[in-house]
This record gives sequence, C-alpha cells and structure tokens, in this order.
Amino acid sequence: MKQVKHISRLFLSFFLLVAFHTSRSQRKTIDQKVDSVLHLMTLEEKVGQMNQYNGDWDATGPITKDGDKQSQIRSGMVGSMLNVTGVDHTRTLQEIAMQSRMKIPLLFGQDIIHGYRTIFPVPLAEAASWDLDAIQLSARIAATEASAAGVHWTFAPMVDIARDPRWGRVMEGAGEDPYLGSLIARARVKGFQGNGLGNTDALMACAKHFAAYGAAVGGRDYNSVDMSLRQLHEIYLAPFKAAAEAGAATFMNSFNDLNGIPATGNKYLQRDILKGAWKFKGFVVSDWGSVGEMIQHGFVKDNYEAALVAANAGSDMDMESRSYIQNLAKLVKEGKVKMEVVDEAVRRILRKKFELGLFDDPFRFCNKERERQQWNNPEHLRMEREIAKKSIVLLKNNGILPIRKQSAKGSEPRNIAVIGPFAKAKSDNLGFWSYDWPDDSTRIVSVWEGMQKKIGADTRLLYARGCNINDTSHAGFTEAVAVAKNADLIIMTAGEARDMSGEAKSRSNIHLPGVQEELIKAVYATGKPMIVLVSAGRPLIFNWTADNVPAILYTWWLGTEAGDAIADVLFGDYNPSGKLPISFPRTEGQIPIYYDHFNTGRPATSDSDRFYRSAYLDLSIYPKYEFGYGLSYTTFQYSDLRLSKKKIKDTEKIDVTMKLTNTGKYEGEEVVQLYLRDKVGSVVRPVKELKDFQKIKLQPGEAKAIHFIIDKQKLSFYNDKLQWIAEPGEFDLMIGASSEDIRLKDSFELVK
Ligand code: BGC
Repeated sequence: MKQVKHISRLFLSFFLLVAFHTSRSQRKTIDQKVDSVLHLMTLEEKVGQMNQYNGDWDATGPITKDGDKQSQIRSGMVGSMLNVTGVDHTRTLQEIAMQSRMKIPLLFGQDIIHGYRTIFPVPLAEAASWDLDAIQLSARIAATEASAAGVHWTFAPMVDIARDPRWGRVMEGAGEDPYLGSLIARARVKGFQGNGLGNTDALMACAKHFAAYGAAVGGRDYNSVDMSLRQLHEIYLAPFKAAAEAGAATFMNSFNDLNGIPATGNKYLQRDILKGAWKFKGFVVSDWGSVGEMIQHGFVKDNYEAALVAANAGSDMDMESRSYIQNLAKLVKEGKVKMEVVDEAVRRILRKKFELGLFDDPFRFCNKERERQQWNNPEHLRMEREIAKKSIVLLKNNGILPIRKQSAKGSEPRNIAVIGPFAKAKSDNLGFWSYDWPDDSTRIVSVWEGMQKKIGADTRLLYARGCNINDTSHAGFTEAVAVAKNADLIIMTAGEARDMSGEAKSRSNIHLPGVQEELIKAVYATGKPMIVLVSAGRPLIFNWTADNVPAILYTWWLGTEAGDAIADVLFGDYNPSGKLPISFPRTEGQIPIYYDHFNTGRPATSDSDRFYRSAYLDLSIYPKYEFGYGLSYTTFQYSDLRLSKKKIKDTEKIDVTMKLTNTGKYEGEEVVQLYLRDKVGSVVRPVKELKDFQKIKLQPGEAKAIHFIIDKQKLSFYNDKLQWIAEPGEFDLMIGASSEDIRLKDSFELVK
C-alpha cells in the first residue's frame, strides 16, 4: 500500500514537472514567435497594435470620426476593435486585417458584462447569490455565446469595490466587501476564460477599472479619488489582485485620478504594482478615451504629452483617444519614449493574439454554425433562471410568502392583482449593459408571464399599471386601487428603469423614483395583503414600504428569465437564499455606509448613544438592511461552535466547527458567514471583516457540521509600511446570518 502511494506520488511529481515544463516551453515558444513577428515590424506598425477603435455600433463615450477605419486596418494601424460583433461583421474586418503587410489579426473586444444573448442578472445581483459556482457558470455561458459571435475579449469583470449606491456603476460590481469581491472576481475570470485561451469558447477577461474608480467622491461618475495607500491595497486592490492571480488576460485602467495622478498615467499602479509586484503578464487597455482625457484632468498639455505619459506609465493599448496613433512613433523617434516601452507593450498584445490561436487561424471565432447554435440555446436560459432565483433577496416576510404553502399544496388566492410599472416590463428586467436583440420581447419573461405560468385553474390574475416608472402623475391610481379591491392578494412591482443605474447614471436621490411609493401607499390602504417586488441595479430607499408592507423581495435586474425566477420564489418553488452584498442606507445622508468600519474612539452601541461614533442626531447608526442580510422561508439554528485551539502560532491553523440546523418547514440554503475582529493592531482594524462563508442546503429538520479553517492569511492585513502581516494578539470570531445578525461568538489568540 505504502509502495503504491509512493509510486503514485512519484508519478504525480513527474506529471507536475512535465506539465510545468510543457507550459514553460509553450510560453517560450510563444515568446519566440512574438519576438520573430516583432522583429519584422516597423515602428508605425507596432504603434498600430497599441491602437483600438470603436466600431461605432454601440458607443459608450464620445466618438471621434476619423474617416476610413478600414483603410487604417489595411495599413496595419489598428490592433483591436471594440463593439464589433457577429460572425459576418468580425470576419469582414478580419479579412481586411489579413490584407495588411504583417497580417496581424485584429482583437475584437466587447462589454459582455452580464451575458451576450442570454442576459444574466446584473453583477451586483449575482453577487447576492454568494454562489461562486453559479457566478462562474454565468460568465462561462456569456463567453460561450459571445465567442461564437466572433468576440475574443470581454471588458469584464468589473471588480471595483463600491460603497456608494449613488454611483450608477455599483450595478456592475460585486458590492462593498473585498473578500467576497475577490472570490467573485476569481470566479468570473475563470468563467470567462474557461479552459484557457486557445479554446474557441474562451473570452479574454479584463479586470477593470484599475484602480479605485468605485471610490469616486460623492458617488459621481468619473470623479476624483483620494485615499490612503493602505486603504487602496486592503480594500480596493484586493479583487484586482485576485483577478490577476486567477489569470485575467487583460486589465483596463480607469477614468479617475488617484491621489492626483490619473490612473491611465499612473506608473505606480500599472508598472510598480500590476506588472511589477503582481508579475502580470497580460496587457493593459485604457478606458474609453482616458489617455486623451488626461488633458482635461490638467495632467498633460496635449495629446502628445498624453501619449508620452500613458505609454511610459504602462498603458499598453489606447482605446479611442488616438493619442498613440498620432504621437507615439514621433515620441520614439524623438527619444522621449524608449523603443523598449513600445516593444514591451506590443509583445504583451501579440502574446495574447498567439494564445488565442489567431495567428494560426484568424477566423477561428467566425463559425456561422456555432453562432447559430449558441443564439438560441435553451440550456442557457435554464441556467439563467437558476442564478436569477439565487440572486433574489427576501427582505421582509410576515408569513405571507410563499403564496402557495407547502402544507396546503395547491391552495392559493383566487384573485391576484399584479400592479405597478414593472408588472409587464420586459427590457427593464435586463438592466444596463445589455443588448436589445430584435426578438427580445418574445424571449424576456415578464413578472406577469412568469405568474401566468404558475397559477392554477381557479386563480385569476388582475392587472393595473398605476403609474410609469418616473411619473409625477397620480392619474392611474384610481384604476390600481379598484383592481386591488377585487383581489385577495396584491403583488406590487416597483423600481428603477434599466438605464437609471449604470455608467454615467449616478443619482443623488435613490428613493423609489416618481410616485411609485405613493402608489404603494394608495394600494396598501385597501387593506389587502401585499407583497412588493423591487427591481433595481443599486440599493434603493423605500422606508415607508419597508416599515409597512408585509413582504418585500429585492429582485434587482434579473435578466431574460426574470419573470419565471420571480414566480418560482413567489410560489415557493424556490426558497430565497440571497444575501445583500452591499449595505442599504436609510437615506442618502447616511452614505457611505459599510459594515467593516473602524470602531473609532467613541463607538456607539445603540441609537440612543448620540455622542458616539459618527452618529447623526436625526438618523439611526444602522443601515436599513445590512451587508450579508437576507431571509428565507425556513429558519436556521446555529449551534455547537468549537475551536480546535484557542492559541496558535502563525504557522498553525484553527479548525472551527459548528452545527447548522434547518428548523423550519422548507428546504433552504443558508449563507453562513464568518467574521473576525483583530482587537488591537499597529493600525486600527475594522469592527468585523468577512473572512469566510459557506452556502449550505438543508432539508427541514436536517443538520450539518460546518468547518472553517483560520490561518495566517485570514489574520493578516497591510500595516503602515504596506507589509502584509499578522500581528500577535486577540481576535474575536463571529459567525452569523448577516454582518449584524451574529449567532455564535468566541475568541482566540495569535502568539509569537
Ligand atoms: C467604460 C468601460 C467600458 C468601455 C468600453 C467605458 O466608458 O468605462 O467600462 O468597457 O467604455 O465600452
């Protein structure tokens, strides 16, 4: 037996050695090929590889018209295009690239943020699932569909930590927490890149926006960021580091300045951290026009200087500002930018083109038959419905949900009124960063349609719109109230339109838009039982609703199958398991609010402690709904916490065990969250930090032992010298159902 083990270990080491050398030699041969191509290129052709143009199809920024892009492609002046999709379209442009002297294939990039053909929940919603496999699968499917349409590269995942729900782009990320954000970043990179570049269903990932874009002052898009390097590394860079470690092929820099230096011209970020300390081997693309925008920042005088600063700082590809194509060759000839800087950038870009297999076959992503197959893949819709269900968060339930009780199967109200601007909504279910395909209206499932498929023969659905999303008029209220009076149960729909969160969609007022909350009040006054569904890309404020109506589901923007997923949850075919990945404020004046704040010298322990921690006279110290919060139709009991050791050295580990029991009537999933607090540090530490979690499914009455491991990594942080260290001392350990709902506590010590 021992011998068998020994042999298999030997075999494994041999296998690993061979694998290591194979991948090294593959890399070596790619590097040799890259060099042999580079060797033949003129300076102008090299700069061409660093130039990216928009296809003018779906621009997200100002378009610079510069005539004939096709002839520029033919003369080798373009390395990549964005917003060009579809096999026919990409093939046409690739054929033109093949007429260039060097025949270097184009890269086609696109914002595949939450799906291409099948639209998945917006990333913030998916983060609420805390289901890393599901998130990875959603990215995988998006990659399968987009790569079949000729796309090589997605400008995703966006891994910006966001703590200000006024910022429209919170919808695009994973919320406020660096730990959860890092795991999700990794899952998305793995999902997009699948089994690796070189497979025709892999999309190159692009971790963006590097860096700290999510911390824009006041939540105003494109705004400045000023923060300590410690905060930058510990909170904002963590998911980027995770994305780089997961093998993200590319990074995108950001529009903002960071401590006075625009990210695009920021050498510290791009050269010292990303390509230096993190040893990133991919390339960095600028954000849309961000090289040229350094002029408006007041950081450079003109486009000539912009190209100089950006290239030297490590921005390898210029998206849409034309600063490189117009100036870089001249800058090299004048000796202001070294040839090695250009060569290094071009090497990084060509390497990816080789890895994608484009030099072997520039048309390998142009397969009509594959495109046709992926266009209507029913399996993708099924998976979309799965993750959409998991993304829904049950915020409140006084027992009214689910509509169809398990104890009395088939019993449901006779008349259900579905009211509000989202009852029959289609494209508003998709959210920002999604595409309008011609047949979308038949594919997207509305709440109304989802419910129609669920109800039994004895149930009738009634409908009233009541108001439009941003209405100031009460004209539709009378009809809505009349319909409500005829119903036994009311499903009220409310929320934000698809384009109210997203890029350049910051809002100072994040209450339910228009007269929607007034409509809820008017309908509620009928005294009929009511469930409210809130559709949005960010945390919204709806305090009256939260305090009065019996049940609320936060349904975000859930994608193509939204209506089916919502109906599954309403009728109890799926027990909601989502937990908020971002704190919900009580009012805009409470922003920014996040769970892992410091204790301060005057910590408040309740709302009556008015002299303490940053409390407002007129506001609770608590958010409306905290990070990690979300209810279930069942109940879970946490018990039997045990730590294998109460004192460890930093080479040792603690095995933490506890028991989770489903004490309710429904099968359900619970996200068990483990938080730590470092009691005394050489720099002050947060009141709690998420360090681990597990999503566990249990049948009614079932119990399971859950294990967590505490190791040095979980106890470490950046000290004031930016060293990642664990300091000896006492730690509190908290396990709970949210960042506030802590069910089990203990403590342990790290000793020298
Ligand atoms: C956005 C990026 C996006 C790019 C290309 C920019 O405006 O900030 O996130 O990838 O446009 O569409």
